[in-house]
Amino acid sequence: MNTRTVSLHILFLFLLLHLIDSLDTLALNDTLRDGDVLISRGRKFALGFFSPGNSSLRYVGIWYYGLPKRTVVWVANRENPVNDTSGVLAFEHDGNLVIRENNGSFPIWSSIVSSTTLNGSTTAQLLDSGNLVLNHDLSKEVIWQSFDYPTDTLLPSMKLGLDRRTGLKWFLTSWKSENDPAPGSCSYRFESPGYRQLFTYKDRAPYYRGGPIIWKPHGSVPSMPDNFNYNVTIVNNATEVSFMLDTWVVSRHVLHESGLLSHFIWHDEEQRWSEFNYYPKEQCDYYSKCGPNGNCGANNADQSDCTCLPGFEPESPGDWYLRNGSGGCKRKQGASMCRRGEGFVKVTRLKLPDTSTAHVNMSLSLKECEQECLRDCSCTAYSSADESVGEHGCLKWHGNLVDTRAFSDLGQDLYVRVDAMDLARQRKRSTLVKKAIVATVSALVLLLLGSLMYCLLFKRKRDRRGNNHLVRVTTSSTYFDELLGLKDLDSKGRRKTDLPFFDFETVAAATRNFSSINELGQGGFGSVYKGVMDNGTEIAVKRLSKYSRQGNEEFKNEVRLIAKLQHRNLVKILGCCIEEDEKLLIYEYLPNKSLDSFLFDETKKSLLDWEKRFEIAYGVARGLMYLHQDSTLRIIHRDLKASNVLLDDALYPKISDFGIARICRGDQIEGKTKRVMGTYGYMAPEYAMQGRFSVKSDVYSYGVLLLEIITGQRNSGCCHINPFSSLIGHVWQLWKEGKCMDIVDKSMDKTYSEEMASRCTQIGLLCVQRSASDRPTMSTVVFMLGNADVVLPSPKQPAFIDESDYNGDIQSASNRTCSVNGVTVTVVEAR
Ligand SMILES: *[C@@H]1O[C@H](CO)[C@@H](O)[C@H](O)[C@H]1NC(C)=O
Ligand SMILES: *[C@@H]1O[C@H](CO)[C@@H](O)[C@H](O)[C@H]1NC(C)=O
Ligand SMILES: *[C@@H]1O[C@H](CO)[C@@H](O)[C@H](O)[C@H]1NC(C)=O
Ligand SMILES: *[C@@H]1O[C@H](CO)[C@@H](O)[C@H](O)[C@H]1NC(C)=O
Ligand SMILES: *[C@@H]1O[C@H](CO)[C@@H](O)[C@H](O)[C@H]1NC(C)=O
Ligand SMILES: *[C@@H]1O[C@H](CO)[C@@H](O)[C@H](O)[C@H]1NC(C)=O
Ligand SMILES: *[C@@H]1O[C@H](CO)[C@@H](O)[C@H](O)[C@H]1NC(C)=O
Ligand SMILES: *[C@@H]1O[C@H](CO)[C@@H](O)[C@H](O)[C@H]1NC(C)=O
Ligand SMILES: *[C@@H]1O[C@H](CO)[C@@H](O)[C@H](O)[C@H]1NC(C)=O
Repeated sequence: MNTRTVSLHILFLFLLLHLIDSLDTLALNDTLRDGDVLISRGRKFALGFFSPGNSSLRYVGIWYYGLPKRTVVWVANRENPVNDTSGVLAFEHDGNLVIRENNGSFPIWSSIVSSTTLNGSTTAQLLDSGNLVLNHDLSKEVIWQSFDYPTDTLLPSMKLGLDRRTGLKWFLTSWKSENDPAPGSCSYRFESPGYRQLFTYKDRAPYYRGGPIIWKPHGSVPSMPDNFNYNVTIVNNATEVSFMLDTWVVSRHVLHESGLLSHFIWHDEEQRWSEFNYYPKEQCDYYSKCGPNGNCGANNADQSDCTCLPGFEPESPGDWYLRNGSGGCKRKQGASMCRRGEGFVKVTRLKLPDTSTAHVNMSLSLKECEQECLRDCSCTAYSSADESVGEHGCLKWHGNLVDTRAFSDLGQDLYVRVDAMDLARQRKRSTLVKKAIVATVSALVLLLLGSLMYCLLFKRKRDRRGNNHLVRVTTSSTYFDELLGLKDLDSKGRRKTDLPFFDFETVAAATRNFSSINELGQGGFGSVYKGVMDNGTEIAVKRLSKYSRQGNEEFKNEVRLIAKLQHRNLVKILGCCIEEDEKLLIYEYLPNKSLDSFLFDETKKSLLDWEKRFEIAYGVARGLMYLHQDSTLRIIHRDLKASNVLLDDALYPKISDFGIARICRGDQIEGKTKRVMGTYGYMAPEYAMQGRFSVKSDVYSYGVLLLEIITGQRNSGCCHINPFSSLIGHVWQLWKEGKCMDIVDKSMDKTYSEEMASRCTQIGLLCVQRSASDRPTMSTVVFMLGNADVVLPSPKQPAFIDESDYNGDIQSASNRTCSVNGVTVTVVEAR
């Protein structure tokens, strides 16, 4: 009996396995009805009827098998949905795969392979790669495959490019919307004319360009700076020219209806997709952002500034200085470029200009390339075409150099043709540099000898009186860099050096011994004082003393790291000072003080018109995005609020107090803290209640700030008597009633477009949604703010507008510690 049960089980298992085995194929006489699915052999993908988004129409598609939320990667009948569940997928008599509706006689979709090729006997099979193939039963050849007709998703081992035999082009097209898979206005293509590049087009115009694909020593593709493991195969032969990306990671590239290309990777433990990368990401990624012969982002401190390539000058200097570089650059006046002693200037770390019309010759060396380009008067620049084994191959440009951008740590070298005068200038500079090196080395040797003797002869004395000069400790290497001008310059032309340490007495004197008259305000971790150095430089000093529990060395290292964060929307750290219990941070001084002193001041708020407010909101978003993902540190601010946004003399916003939480970390571990630092009204619910912080809690604070900027009113702040009458609750109420124009700050008159105001309100509401996972990331926020034609999702109910968000603790805590609106509070949870 026992043996019989077992053998029955085995039989059953065998049958089951057999059944599953055939689940991946559809044979000639089979039909797949709405509700049935094909499942690939390794259970990676499924095929069947589905309805996208909130649509009720039915489409045949392929999606990942077994994921909690259906992720569709391919759609057959993109433009011809079935109206109800009567659809079937089956074979025609001739062997074509078709979709029929209601047993209708005319198929609404067909694989369209000529009958002679099919010969009436085919089988459809769903492969583990996500490819649906039609096999000829006799020849076993693949006669049709879904990978040849991509929709919006690029899967590993899928090709982009051109089948030369049939003229079929492989490219992605976005969906029309989340609810409609019909082809939208964007496409993603591999372009081979000139030299191989990947392009995103929007409304047929180039939108983003991946840069020419140039092999590097380790096979990396610089235009896709993802550091995960993949193989790129490029084929260019008689049958095809194609690009293919292969990896064993579960990953997909998706072209969104807005033109954003995202790379997602599946996180198995967390059971979710994570957005690994996306393009365009920065302003400089937009095609031809700086026009012909312009170079975007060469100025490190500002990722969107335009400069001209060597030998060029702004086409329209007026626009240029208004930060509008789209007009591009033209040859400098009077430059003579044909056999008049011209030559080349090397520009490093670039996304090379558009190669669509470039000439390539792989048999030339870089030196020969230079000669070729020099001989040809119309050649404007050259570079190597392959760097896998040294530099070889030759890329030559003629005419304008379009869509060049600078990177800080990747990219290629471009040699740009300049006339004899520019060349001479360049040479002079390099000989000057050489001379400077020699001079510096000799000076240093002398200096070293001198100081040695000094040390031997005198005991080092410290001048404790009157010496209020700025004391800067620079290491010799940065000293060198500074001398030679090798270090990058920041936006004001100052050289970036290592962090200077200030003398305590100097700072004390500058702030009149931290007198209360000089106090600018109190922030998260201490008071801020205004100071004036001997030479008249104004500074802002943050006195951390009692809050920091770190050792001095650790503190120094942290400050060094934080001070390296350079972005034009972050306040610049000039240095720090450590002495016994005192820990001070020295910042640039911004005369206009903070955003709250404008926004919530009845007389000054009118200085902020809509354009200014938008610029402030956008700038803060960019600064925060930089902290979250573009900087090497990934900083969570944890106390973003109007009073932590400082305005410079042009009312340009700069985030202050970033990294303080990191510098001052005491007992807290990443992600969860017992010590909740922050400001009521700006704190996300999960942070205020459970001490859980993340980039999404910063997004929450940003959302509050954005709504404050639009309305000119404070959110509840702390100590609000009735939390349900908070600004967010009010905005949400009006939003639901479709009256969100009522909340826009009246002091702006009519300088705003209602559409933009409503859009920004919606973005603000998206940021303050109760669940952290519903909130967008800062990069999405920046994208939504910067692209007025992107359709926004509908916000869900925000946090803190019904009672369930409040518990007794927070009420009593706020009663206990708050006194002034908008002041940072610290809640130390009891255990
Ligand atoms: C399909 O059906 C036809 C007639 O209905 C039959 O002649 C043919 O053998 C069937 N083919 C297969 C592969 O079952
Ligand atoms: C459903 O989709 C339509 C069309 O995009 C959209 O207008 C509507 O708001 C969506 N409804 C919901 C509940 O998402
Ligand atoms: C499906 O619905 C659309 C619009 O409602 C209609 O135009 C079309 O004729 C319908 N198709 C069928 C087969 O009923
Ligand atoms: C389609 O027609 C076949 C026979 O002609 C019938 O058995 C089947 O039920 C029909 N299906 C639908 C959905 O009407
Ligand atoms: C198609 O079938 C016919 C006869 O059934 C055969 O002669 C011919 O070779 C077949 N063609 C292909 C391409 O298999
Ligand atoms: C071109 O390359 C593809 C992919 O490697 C290969 O399948 C095809 O046979 C090649 N064609 C020729 C003519 O070499
Ligand atoms: C890349 O190709 C090499 C050689 O064909 C292979 O061993 C490796 O597994 C591939 N890597 C990926 C990520 O596909
Ligand atoms: C930027 O400048 C170009 C011409 O140089 C002009 O057409 C365009 O309107 C300007 N854009 C803005 C936003 O001012
Ligand atoms: C590449 O350069 C070599 C040497 O100048 C020349 O012989 C060859 O024709 C060139 N090839 C192409 C494709 O232009």
